[in-house]
Amino acid sequence: MVRELKITPIKNGTVIDHIGNGLSLEVLRIIGVGELDKDSTVSVALHVRSQKIGWKDIVKVENMELSPRKVNAIALIAPTATISIIRDFKVLEKRPVDLPDRIVGILKCPNPGCITNQNEPVESEFDVARRRPVVLRCAYCDRAVDEFLSHLA
Ligand SMILES: Nc1ncnc2c1ncn2[C@@H]1O[C@H](COP(=O)(O)OP(=O)(O)OP(=O)(O)O)[C@@H](O)[C@H]1O
Ligand SMILES: [Mg+2]
Ligand SMILES: [Zn+2]
Repeated sequence: MVRELKITPIKNGTVIDHIGNGLSLEVLRIIGVGELDKDSTVSVALHVRSQKIGWKDIVKVENMELSPRKVNAIALIAPTATISIIRDFKVLEKRPVDLPDRIVGILKCPNPGCITNQNEPVESEFDVARRRPVVLRCAYCDRAVDEFLSHLA
């Protein structure tokens, strides 16, 4: 018998699929679900069997599109994720998240002495030093960052 998790289809919105097992709660934090319209449904499935990555999480949000900044933040913690835009119940567009070579303005530098933490009009900026696992390096003070959740700006 095939048992399947049924999530109500959405008419318009965004599906974030192939999120690493158990990471959807962090994705919800990045999306900022608390600030969403309370009549937009958010469905979350944790620990779903996946052909591609073994186990995965899925997040489906009605009536919302992700800013490029949020897509980049999701790419940092869930590099296997795919993002689908749903319009009128159909998949309008599906793409993998993509970690750019440079991350601007998403993370705070953990170095308190860094110029980006001095009330100067300087936006944080990190170069991707390694991809799997991801390690970033501050473009201003060279501090390495490999733990992102507590540094999301
Ligand atoms: N109307 C809808 N409402 C909610 N989720 C949807 C809707 N249509 C598609 N999806 C979801 O969007 C994602 C992409 O849809 P698609 O049909 O391409 O999935 P798929 O065939 O499972 O592909 P893959 O898993 O390889 O990305 C899937 O997670 C699917 O469950
Ligand atoms: Mg699928
Ligand atoms: Zn720095």
